[in-house]
Amino acid sequence: MTRPDIFRKCLEYTRADEVKKMGLYPYFKPLSGQVGPVMEIDGHSVIMLGSNNYLGLTDHPLVMARSAEAIRKYGTGCTGSRFLNGTLDIHLEMEEKLARFLHRERVVTFSTGFQTNLGVIGALGMKDDLLFVDRAVHASIIDGTRMSYSRVVKYRHNDVEHLDHLLEREQGPAMIITDGVFSMEGDLADLPGILSVARKHGARVMVDDAHGVGVMGPTGRGTAEHFGCEDGVDLQVGTFSKSFASIGGFAAGTDKVIDYIQHEARTEIFSASLPPASVASVMAALEILQEQPELLVRMHSAAERARRGLRDLGFNVGNSAAPIVPIIIGDSILTFRIWQALDQEGVFTNPVVTPAVPPGQAMLRTSYMATHTDEMIDRALGIFERVGRRFGLIG
Ligand SMILES: Cc1ncc(COP(=O)(O)O)c(C=O)c1O
Repeated sequence: MTRPDIFRKCLEYTRADEVKKMGLYPYFKPLSGQVGPVMEIDGHSVIMLGSNNYLGLTDHPLVMARSAEAIRKYGTGCTGSRFLNGTLDIHLEMEEKLARFLHRERVVTFSTGFQTNLGVIGALGMKDDLLFVDRAVHASIIDGTRMSYSRVVKYRHNDVEHLDHLLEREQGPAMIITDGVFSMEGDLADLPGILSVARKHGARVMVDDAHGVGVMGPTGRGTAEHFGCEDGVDLQVGTFSKSFASIGGFAAGTDKVIDYIQHEARTEIFSASLPPASVASVMAALEILQEQPELLVRMHSAAERARRGLRDLGFNVGNSAAPIVPIIIGDSILTFRIWQALDQEGVFTNPVVTPAVPPGQAMLRTSYMATHTDEMIDRALGIFERVGRRFGLIG
């Protein structure tokens, strides 16, 4: 008997090719120029509305200078895990500064935001534990629950009554896991409601604030700061690949919980630590955020200008309440066609199709940064209007 080939699925994989044949494939496009509010793609310039560079710090002179200095002082990589040879003095300095900024006892950092969720959930979720997870959370949380030994109970998106009902039926130690700002639609978790249900049932709460820290709240401490309920959140997780203009992730909480995570999270113990340049850029971005909270105001005002403009034009922008504004379209191929027309006219957006969103809910995800000027937003709105009419999305 010949053994079936494990690569058969690859040989039969045609999904991407089908879209390429239609001339509509929008992914893995090389951008050039400095990462900022305007970039180059295929030789033309685009207003970048597809980036998570919320504070616009990726090309900030201080961030770039500190990053370059760190390379000169420490070299380019740590070549080992934080657990062994990969902890530099600047890793500890960064964790202390973040803990102080977030008003948490302690912070531990990871090499990506994705790895943070894998490591944290994998370490905390033991056999008799229960993880209550919003249906719309980021893929890294779903994969984190797969790395745990716990039973996973999914509740309807942001439906606190459903969560309450599900918790009522279960007895074991429980943790609720939600995004703070949902990454595709830019809607906010109902944290006050979730915390009250958590208190009622004695469950812990973990918030993935990848799009919340450096974005939401008067000082950028995140979604719980926005709602004024930070004390109720037991564990705050985040990333450096968005507002912090770098790469990496963190978990912030009490000394005992972070100590446990630091020693038990497999993605911390068995993966090399953040390189010095990335650490230095996180600290520079944090310093800028603390000295210039007006960047948050500027970012939200750019987002609000775009959200209002798109809504007034008749686009469906969902429940966006953050600098992520979706344009909900529905059909994937139509979404690719509109993406392409926008690109040709000078606006870069992110086409989002299944499995990132449920079938039939394809969208263009747009996002805004402190360095988008009113002129850029208005120019983009003019392009959205022309393209939206051409494709019959708006009247
Ligand atoms: C909610 C959420 N969590 C985690 C991540 C993973 O972060 P990173 O890209 O830094 O690995 C993302 C990335 O988009 C995200 O949106």
